[in-house]
Amino acid sequence: MEQQMNKQLLKDTIGQLFANGKGLLAMDESNATCNKRFAAEGIPQTIEMRRKYRELIVTTTGLNESLGGAILYDETIRQQTNDGIPFTDVLMKAGIIPGIKVDTGAKPMAGFPNEKITEGLDGLRERLAEYKQMGARFAKWRAVITIGTHTPTITAIKANVHALSRYAALCQEADIVPIVEPEVLMTGNHTMQQCYDVTEQVLKTLFYQLYQFNIDMEEMILKPNMVIVGTESTIKNSVDEVAEATVNCLLASVPASVPVIAFLSGGQAPEDAAAHLNAINKNFKDRLPWIVSFSFARAIQQPALDLWKGQQANVEEAQKLLCSRAKLAAAARTGNYTVAMEK
Ligand code: G3H
Repeated sequence: MEQQMNKQLLKDTIGQLFANGKGLLAMDESNATCNKRFAAEGIPQTIEMRRKYRELIVTTTGLNESLGGAILYDETIRQQTNDGIPFTDVLMKAGIIPGIKVDTGAKPMAGFPNEKITEGLDGLRERLAEYKQMGARFAKWRAVITIGTHTPTITAIKANVHALSRYAALCQEADIVPIVEPEVLMTGNHTMQQCYDVTEQVLKTLFYQLYQFNIDMEEMILKPNMVIVGTESTIKNSVDEVAEATVNCLLASVPASVPVIAFLSGGQAPEDAAAHLNAINKNFKDRLPWIVSFSFARAIQQPALDLWKGQQANVEEAQKLLCSRAKLAAAARTGNYTVAMEK
C-alpha cells in the first residue's frame, strides 16, 4: 500500500529546526571535501581526524542556542565520541536535530562540458529508511549550477531539478523533511545581474518540477545561494544591494507556501554571509513570506577549523569560535546582527 506522508510530523520537524531564531549547521562535507579543507590547514586526512573534528563540533556547549539542526554525512552519522556516545545522541540530547546529506556528489555531466549532475537516487528509499532509524529527521541534496560563457544549459538545469524533485518525493514519503539545494556557484567573474538571472531561472524551473512531482511545498526547506557577484569579479556590491537583489529574485520565484529559506554561505567570508542575511531580514522583514534563516557550513565552521589545526590543545578555543559564529548567524536571522558584534 502506498505510504501516506505524515504532514504533521514534517511540520513539527521544520518548526523545531527553526524555533526561536535558530538555523542549521551544515557539517556534512563529504570525505573528499573535508580532506581538502584539512589539507589546506596541514591536518592529516584520516578517518580519525575527521571524527575528532566532528566530535569537537557536536560537543560544543551552547550551540543549541543558535542551531535547531545539524546536517551530517554518511561517515559522521555512524561515528561516536571518544567515550563511545553516538554523535546523533549527543546532538539530540542538546536539542539539535540530526539531518543527513543523501546525495552522493555532483559529477561531470556527460555531453555537457563544465556542468555537473548530482547523483544518489539509486537505493535512496532504503538509505532514507536506515538514516531515519539512526535519528535523521531531515535530509539534504545539493545540485550545482555553474555560471560560465556557455553555462548553465537548460538541459543541465532540468536534469538537476528533476533529480532534486525525485529526492524530495522520496524524503516526504519517508517523513523526512527535504532540504532542496540548487546552488548557483559564486565561482567566476559574472555580475550580480547574471547571478540574479540564472538563480531566477533555476528556481522557477525547480518549482515547476517540484509541482509536477507532487511535492508538498509546505513540508520542504529551500536552501539557495544569495544573489551575489562572482568571486573573480573586481566589482563589489554593497550589503544592501546584495540583500535587495536576493529578496527580489526569491520573491519572483519561490512560492509563499514554502515555510523556510535557509541560505548556504557558498564561500563568502563569515562576516559577509552574516551581514547579507541580516540585511535581508532587517530591510525586508515586512515583505518576506518565509522564515529566512541559514544552513551555513564554512561561514560557521571556517574560523574554528583554522584555529583548531588538528591540535587537541586548541579544541576549547575553536569551540568558542564555533559557538560565537553560530550566534552571529542566529542574530542575522532576526536582523539583530551588527558589525560591532564581530569584536
Ligand atoms: O552544500 C553546501 C553546504 O551545505 C553549505 O556550505 O555554507 O560552505 O556553502 P557553505
